[in-house]
Amino acid sequence: MERDLARILIPRDEIQRRVGELATEIAETYGEEDAHGLVIVPVLAGSIIFVADLIRCLPFKMNIGLMTISRYRGKTTEGGDTKVVQDLDVDIRNRHVLVVDDILDTGKTLRTVGEQLRKRQPASLRICTLLRKPAKAPKDLVADFVGFDIEDAFVVGYGLDYNDQYRNWPDIGVLKAECYQ
Ligand code: IMP
Ligand code: MG
Repeated sequence: MERDLARILIPRDEIQRRVGELATEIAETYGEEDAHGLVIVPVLAGSIIFVADLIRCLPFKMNIGLMTISRYRGKTTEGGDTKVVQDLDVDIRNRHVLVVDDILDTGKTLRTVGEQLRKRQPASLRICTLLRKPAKAPKDLVADFVGFDIEDAFVVGYGLDYNDQYRNWPDIGVLKAECYQ
């Protein structure tokens, strides 16, 4: 797996440090009172590793509602429609909702998630993304919590995949061109 990476972009210890900082930011934003009844919505499958680390740093009770969105088939990060593969089965009406995703690229995925969830009238809706590609992310799609802004490269590891592989690599790295099919 390691030999498929051109370079490490964000090493595991830096990820852990930043995840801790994000948890502090999130805890300060919600406070004890608002956090009561918070629903965390991880966007599957890319956010699995990130959300597991993040929620263990959060000091309050929460519910977790899973949502699966599919976007890419294969190497390209362009085109392709978003599809809700598995919808949330938690009632979020009048509850505070925090969507957690791996990466904000073109914003199509998070826009779809936002539209779907807003219809259900949550008390508030915020977005936390581990990575963001500022070169491509639309200016009108605001993420409330962002781990790292990165260059426009295709990255894998720490939950991020290429063809559903590499999610278990603990660092975030750039995939070698020859590993694209
Ligand atoms: P968006 O809809 O273009 O913002 O893309 C978001 C989704 O595309 C993420 O949740 C990822 O699953 C996937 N994605 C975008 N960029 C990358 C990347 O560099 N590596 C792996 N997956 C990516
Ligand atoms: Mg994803």
